[in-house]
Amino acid sequence: MSKSPDITLQESSPLLQEGGGPGHVAIIMDGNGRWAQARGRPRLFGHHAGAKRVREVVEACPGLGVKYLTMFAFSTENWKRTQTEVAGLMSLFRRYISKEMKALATRNVRVRFIGDRMRLDAKLVKLMDKLEVSTECNDGTHLTIALNYGGRDEVARATKRLACDVAEGRLNPEDVDEETLPRYLDTHVLPDPDLVIRTSGEARISNFLLWQSAYAEYEFIETLWPDFTAKELGSLCDRYARRDRRFGAVKT
Ligand code: FPP
Repeated sequence: MSKSPDITLQESSPLLQEGGGPGHVAIIMDGNGRWAQARGRPRLFGHHAGAKRVREVVEACPGLGVKYLTMFAFSTENWKRTQTEVAGLMSLFRRYISKEMKALATRNVRVRFIGDRMRLDAKLVKLMDKLEVSTECNDGTHLTIALNYGGRDEVARATKRLACDVAEGRLNPEDVDEETLPRYLDTHVLPDPDLVIRTSGEARISNFLLWQSAYAEYEFIETLWPDFTAKELGSLCDRYARRDRRFGAVKT
């Protein structure tokens, strides 16, 4: 990891007030393929360029008051891509983890992975475990990487575990409510996202954090992920801080 990213906030920005900005930002990193194609390069070239942006965005978080950052790296649907692209992405994730492990640990970043690890190769899972363990005492930015993650899959896996607890007498069906169910989700230790950003001009959520984003604010922006900067993240956080969140209530 390198120098602090260049983010200049206006003095009037509500982000500069305590609790004004999004404490948890979740990002759907989209547009790597189009970015590469526009340069006449293979899609994997775009994914590599995309991986480089992750560092800058992670480093920008403390300065913006973003304590939790969750990034969608690979969905349960992404297996439908060509074998070359899937294998290339898996190799990229292994490389990213090995390369960034030390820097993330010393930069006080706590890393977690969400998603179903069952389908991932053993070597990658071992690296994921190692990164989680080596950063578990950190209390700076909480970086969560969604890998082989799908919101519906997560809810189905959570329901299975919940049903087992009911069947084995550990949970009373009467006690299942909006507080209980999220304890079974992969994200059980994380707060809900305040702001969900999707790059590349697509306005859909593609099975990302379905339960958790019920009251999130959304930003669908045109920038392709490999062009996304810390500065743009700063502007989006600033815009978020100016929004009026009511959570279904009416302002009195
Ligand atoms: C979507 O773009 C992007 C992905 C499926 C992969 C995201 C992965 C990275 C940014 C790299 C590594 C990240 C980490 C956290 C190590 P797309 O391929 O769907 O783009 P397109 O819509 O233009 O085809």
